Amino acid sequence: MTAKTLLVLPGDGIGPEVMAQVRRVVEWLARRRNVTFDWREGLAGGAAIDAHGVPVSDETMADALAADAVMLGAVGGPKWDGVAYEKRPEAGLLRLRKELGLFANLRPAVVFDALVDASTLKPEVVKGLDIMIVRELTGGVYFGEPRGIHELPEGGFKAVNTQAYSSYEIERVGRVAFELARKRKGKVHSCEKANVMETGVLWRREMTALHKASYSDVTLEHMYADNCAMQLLRNPHQFDVIVTDNLFGDILSDEAAMLTGSLGMLPSASLGAADADGKRKAMYEPVHGSAPDIAGKDIANPCATLLSFAMCLRYSFDMMAEADLIETAVQNVLAGGLRTADIMSKGMAKVSTTVMGDSIVRELDKLTG
Ligand code: IPM
Ligand code: MG
Repeated sequence: MTAKTLLVLPGDGIGPEVMAQVRRVVEWLARRRNVTFDWREGLAGGAAIDAHGVPVSDETMADALAADAVMLGAVGGPKWDGVAYEKRPEAGLLRLRKELGLFANLRPAVVFDALVDASTLKPEVVKGLDIMIVRELTGGVYFGEPRGIHELPEGGFKAVNTQAYSSYEIERVGRVAFELARKRKGKVHSCEKANVMETGVLWRREMTALHKASYSDVTLEHMYADNCAMQLLRNPHQFDVIVTDNLFGDILSDEAAMLTGSLGMLPSASLGAADADGKRKAMYEPVHGSAPDIAGKDIANPCATLLSFAMCLRYSFDMMAEADLIETAVQNVLAGGLRTADIMSKGMAKVSTTVMGDSIVRELDKLTG
């Protein structure tokens, strides 16, 4: 079997601490399942700025392109507030997404039974929730030109960003959403602002055409993005797959995350187009950020990163059994009453990042006898 190359970019803030727990699961896989990864590490975000003056170096970019999958922790923090805008930590993340061509960002929001009380919403609203947000990730206002801040002759400034989408960008992410829905509950909500934006009009038109041409077995509903934000709180169970653009997806996925109780629980997968062998470029990262306020304290929740690694096993390496094992281990440990600070509730045992990692590895042992 060929070595599976994993490029690991722990990044900034809590990134390195949560990624250390993935390392332990990778070691467990080698020990107990005879699966080895070629684990390579690189710098991204502020860590790369400190070392190389750029948020992702050309060498790291080349490593990412060569790897079978990339695992990213988190980037950013107040330490780099002063760096030039084009070189800020987040620019490194955007470069990785863009140059790897990761146009489809999958963000599942799943409410584990053990955490139903961690949500700020009533248990009956969120219990059993399982939503998949598919966010377009390489287009829209994040990358549109022209952009910039210009000084005006009459004084003051003008800032410009451009929201632009072409048919093919909408179609390819639409396909991902419909394909996922086929394996789930068969429903897609396509969200945009066709009532105010031409990009929304085109989005709606392309989704409708794609649905008619190839996916009429799936239910398609269009929804304005603001209504979607509201419906997510009112009745989240109406959703199965939500497909939306880069900016709306950024916002709606944070909102969906909070239905599950904590941003510390949400994994993500960013996928590119399949090549001739069906292989896709891919990067996996927790949806939470670098959380500089709690970095280095061993209190961050490693679950989102471990669940991202489970997605990596599932989508990049076809290792469904191992992915299931990790997800089950996380659920069982939560069911056993262990909580990191972000998901702590009355009567539960508050544990550190490391103890959460220990317990998940021990649970993996137990599950595999
Ligand atoms: C996310 C983050 C990023 C984004 C930031 C860190 C650039 O919020 O992955 O959702 O806006 O895409
Ligand atoms: Mg975000």
